[in-house]
Amino acid sequence: MDIKIRKASPLQTKTACLVVGVYEKGFAEQLYKELDQQLGGLLHKAQRNGEFTGKKGEQILFQPTGQLPAERVLLVGLGSRTEGTLDGIRQAAGSAMQLLASKKFGQVVYALPLCAVKKTDSAARIQATAEGLLLAGYRYDRFLSEKIKGSRKLPQTVTLLIDNAREKPACESALRRAQQLCGAVALARDLVNTPGNIKSPAYLAEQARAASAASTLSCKVLGLKELGREGFGALLGVAQGSVREPQLIVLEHKGGGKAHAPVVLVGKGVVFDAGGISLKPAEKMDEMKMDMAGGAAVIGTLLATALLELPINLVGIVPAVENLPSGTAYRPGDILTSLSGQTIEVLNTDAEGRLILADALTYAKRYAPEMVIDLATLTGACIIALGHHATAVLGNDQKLVAALLHAGEESGERLWQLPLWDDYDQQIKSEVADVKNTGGRPAGTITAAAFLKKFAGEFRWAHLDIAGTAWRDQDQPYIPRGGTGVGVRLLVAFLQDMAGRSDRTAL
Ligand code: BES
Ligand code: MN
Ligand code: ZN
Repeated sequence: MDIKIRKASPLQTKTACLVVGVYEKGFAEQLYKELDQQLGGLLHKAQRNGEFTGKKGEQILFQPTGQLPAERVLLVGLGSRTEGTLDGIRQAAGSAMQLLASKKFGQVVYALPLCAVKKTDSAARIQATAEGLLLAGYRYDRFLSEKIKGSRKLPQTVTLLIDNAREKPACESALRRAQQLCGAVALARDLVNTPGNIKSPAYLAEQARAASAASTLSCKVLGLKELGREGFGALLGVAQGSVREPQLIVLEHKGGGKAHAPVVLVGKGVVFDAGGISLKPAEKMDEMKMDMAGGAAVIGTLLATALLELPINLVGIVPAVENLPSGTAYRPGDILTSLSGQTIEVLNTDAEGRLILADALTYAKRYAPEMVIDLATLTGACIIALGHHATAVLGNDQKLVAALLHAGEESGERLWQLPLWDDYDQQIKSEVADVKNTGGRPAGTITAAAFLKKFAGEFRWAHLDIAGTAWRDQDQPYIPRGGTGVGVRLLVAFLQDMAGRSDRTAL
């Protein structure tokens, strides 16, 4: 899909399909008045009979007769104008692309960047439009036959309209940024969607190496021997049930100069989570190939950061293991000695994510981080609490949490904070070890974070539970079902905000 930017009036553009965004009650604006005139009053008619009123998510496809050079017009509802946001533009661009993908139009024109959104310039609206259509155009088709792949035709060329030629250079670089960012999201989605038979820990490591080879990132991987020598006892406990060797993947982006301490990202990389001896029920177990979505987000974010040349130092750590029941698997009741030296009583082998993260967080200390953020599909309880519409955020530093919440609003990957009071520590006290790996049913997402807190130690730290947001079984405007790539756009927004602040510690 070739995307271009052009200064032109939507009413004078020749195209197979013109995509126009309309706010509710927005029909009085000049553009729609003229459009309506050229359509012989069709717009007003559609509004009057309730067929299209500009509500969010509404779409209507016309074949205009008359003077309009466009062969078709696709109107997309944007909802209330006063509540219009960049994510609204992203969603409108995405749902338009979902519709267009089935229509086999070679060349289409998006007038969406012309829609007014408070506190935005054309470049920001170009970026949101491009992100929406690129993210919506994604498919995981690696295992589909050529015939089926070919039946879906995205437009060859998409032209995005602007109304001021002077803004073109800024808009073109915004478009490039969107392409780089969405390429990184697509990598994260591909990794999540890859089936377990292919996706071993070594496969994840290979993919991380490939990302570093294609960019300025550096990559290092610790295998079974090194992990044993270093004392990654918690991670190795989880890994011992699978014949596939665990890997600790480390990616680095050095864009910030030597004086700056790095931000460290840690992502859960359980390539398949059967639950171990505490075996999961069969229903939907297939979806547990997505249990490395935190790791995928970390790899994707590092790639994006390198491509966008963000002026920061960033380290990504992905502990990659497989959690299976077997004759060599760890058992309920086992006591593991973690890399930090703290001992852990394993009450449920299905609470494996926190075990591998514990060691990865301890390892993060070696980078003397300015702050650490981990992402993990950690608890089913998070889906019960927040459903699929928000990632849970918890942490030991309110300013960091606030900055993440803000990035969530900017990116459309929204977060909701849960408390992390010391009161919850009681639930994970063990009689025989320093801590136990489950806290019972109440507040499962919080007690998992309380466990991690014991390994985050002194540094500023935030934990993102993406159990509900990493995988969707229904299409969203710009999120096709399957792996969502959640975390990449969120963290890039967060890191961009941070890089833009001169006094980073004032965060
Ligand atoms: N990977 C799962 C959590 C999960 C469940 C993610 C559903 C996405 C969808 C995690 O390893 C897990 O099994 N957690 C247990 C913890 C419990 C045993 C304390 C859970 O949530 O049931
Ligand atoms: Mn599990
Ligand atoms: Zn898991």
